[in-house]
Amino acid sequence: MAPIIEKRRSLNMELENQRKENSNLRSRLTKLQTLANMGTVSALVAHEINNILMPLGNYAMVALNSPEDGALTKKALEKTVYNSSRASEILESILGIVNGETAELKHCKLKNLVEDVFACIGRDFGRDGIKVCLDISEDLEIYAVPVQMQQVFMNLILNAREAIMPRAGTISIKAESVDGDVIIEVCDSGSGISPSDMKNLFIAFFTTKTADGPSGRNGAGLGLVFCKEMIDSHNGTITVESQEGQGTKFIITLPEKTI
Ligand SMILES: Nc1ncnc2c1ncn2[C@@H]1O[C@H](COP(=O)(O)OP(=O)(O)OP(=O)(O)O)[C@@H](O)[C@H]1O
Ligand SMILES: [Mg+2]
Repeated sequence: MAPIIEKRRSLNMELENQRKENSNLRSRLTKLQTLANMGTVSALVAHEINNILMPLGNYAMVALNSPEDGALTKKALEKTVYNSSRASEILESILGIVNGETAELKHCKLKNLVEDVFACIGRDFGRDGIKVCLDISEDLEIYAVPVQMQQVFMNLILNAREAIMPRAGTISIKAESVDGDVIIEVCDSGSGISPSDMKNLFIAFFTTKTADGPSGRNGAGLGLVFCKEMIDSHNGTITVESQEGQGTKFIITLPEKTI
């Protein structure tokens, strides 16, 4: 009998040790996850600020290069001021999300918001052979944090542009209100996405862009992760449909809150 009791006691001790080890591992995992999240979050913040800094530098350069053209200089400086205040709004807004604060949702006119993004990007799409079509009614509103949704559109538009270039093509953005949701489609006639890449699109640091590829730069693989984070925080959804060689369509659904 004694050996059995002895065996049971030692098994119990072993079980207890395993439990302790499990709990240690779990708490280490939680700490590691927090660190990993912080890493991704800092990378996301840097990514979005970089999106804004690029045109900001371009506008400042225009102002410096044409001091004799008063009107152009004024316009470039106005854009510079606008973009730099957006950069700090974005920073505040993303850090707010990380700290669990809820940013202020507003009713905003979608068409103005999208037009602002094109103004902010500051590139002449027509000059690159890219036709832009907006099919959004003047008074269609979304209930959203404007600066966050603008960054979402900026990422989708920059991706669409890179998928089309260096050829010519079309980016079309359309939106409508359907059964209490606003459905927004961002379509491009670019390279499309292979079925194997489709699975990885929303995974942090997934990118197919390399400096010697058509985009001419190494991608960070963070734009779509940012979009998903933002759309999730608006209780919306983002999905994608694509045909390799034909083009891509991102579909965003946002709940339309009317109170
Ligand atoms: N409109 C699109 N057409 C074709 N491929 C796309 C499109 N949008 C995204 N992709 C694919 O998804 C990948 C991830 O996009 P994401 O915006 O997250 O990162 P990225 O553009 O590579 O880099 P960055 O973080 O600098 O934006 C891209 O590398 C590309 O392969
Ligand atoms: Mg991108």
